[in-house]
Amino acid sequence: MIELQLTPEEQSMMDGAEGPGVKRAMEIVVALARIYGAADLVPVVHAQIAGVSYKNLGDAGVQFLSEWADEGARVRVPTTLNPMGMERGKWQQWGIATDFAVPQLSVIDAFAKMGVTPTMSCTPYLFREHTPKRGDALAWAESSAVAFANSVIGARSNREGGPSAIAAAVVGRTGRYGYHLDENRQANFVVAVRCPVKSVADFGALSYSVGKAVGSGVPWFADLTQWLPPLPGDLTLGGPAGDRLKTLGAGLAAYGAVAVYHVAGVTPEARDLGESLIRPDAQRLVIENLDDAYRVMDADPDLKQIDLVTVGCPHASLTEIAQVADYLRGKTLATRLWVTTGAITRQAAAELGYVQVIEAAGGEVVADTCAVVAPMRMLDVRSMATNAGKMACYAPMHSGVRMRFGDLEACLDAAVTGEWRGVGDQWDVV
Ligand code: F3S
Repeated sequence: MIELQLTPEEQSMMDGAEGPGVKRAMEIVVALARIYGAADLVPVVHAQIAGVSYKNLGDAGVQFLSEWADEGARVRVPTTLNPMGMERGKWQQWGIATDFAVPQLSVIDAFAKMGVTPTMSCTPYLFREHTPKRGDALAWAESSAVAFANSVIGARSNREGGPSAIAAAVVGRTGRYGYHLDENRQANFVVAVRCPVKSVADFGALSYSVGKAVGSGVPWFADLTQWLPPLPGDLTLGGPAGDRLKTLGAGLAAYGAVAVYHVAGVTPEARDLGESLIRPDAQRLVIENLDDAYRVMDADPDLKQIDLVTVGCPHASLTEIAQVADYLRGKTLATRLWVTTGAITRQAAAELGYVQVIEAAGGEVVADTCAVVAPMRMLDVRSMATNAGKMACYAPMHSGVRMRFGDLEACLDAAVTGEWRGVGDQWDVV
């Protein structure tokens, strides 16, 4: 049994020298470090807090956060927030009830008091000032962002819970266990993909098949390079490879509990370390086709009437917004369309004219929220279509909607025609 070693500064936080808010945070960090057998704490450079929506927190959560902020808890590393349950400044126009909006705004106030930057996005890595570097230790709670940071960037984070990410941000540390250690980043599954994986939706379907099979394992994708253009140097733009890997990680984390994956020849640790990253006892998995995944994810074939088409899960990159704008130029929508993204990305998209094109067609580029964490029943949405694997998994569960799943062109066709026709197979081919 390893005994957790604390530095004198850490011990004094634990003893309450920096006040009750810091003491409470250190107690959480230390308890988790002991549970997972950490030898010491590792300084983190950034934290990302999830579980921000009032829909998930409820009144008890709001009270807990407000008390913690009042106790003097303040973050000591840059810290960002996941989406909340509505868009700032638009909730009244959307018809969100005040008994939802007011406590939701109290949540954001509590985080602001703690010093958290209210980005309200699940893709902090798309924002230049929050993109981690390889090797950075993070305390991120959004599972899709954890998968992206660990896998595509080569930073290091466990799948933190909401309170543990806040605690790590307040003390600037987390336990050195899990994915902070080299041995836990080695692949214990080798995945051979024997079918075309041509679109974001296909990568989502792949994430279903692999996530279900590997659970919390670490998959090594042996042969995906032909379906991935080179990763751009600037990951904040998204790009075809970034967008596909973003959706792959999100789905692996949702259908399984994957926190890190490697793609031979593509992701940084796989590029540098090669097959030495694969454990000798790794299991082999062959994906012959994506048919079963599409059958499960697009499980409601009788559903034709779509209330809302949603694109951007995880939050859309600039390239995804551009793709939607290109399709919609000069068209008029028959049903609601949300392209969900971070306010920072939306601002960049507005400067390039994409937001105006989407709005002219009748769609919305929505910031701060998504169709899982917003109260969709309050917005009178009962059926949805998406090209995002994670959204196809979570929205029926969390928002009680019926769902169609297909590629981007099929989704945008549904937005324009008002019904799901499933046309345009593999439009967003690399
Ligand atoms: Fe982000 Fe919402 Fe998807 S938080 S990952 S857009 S479910």
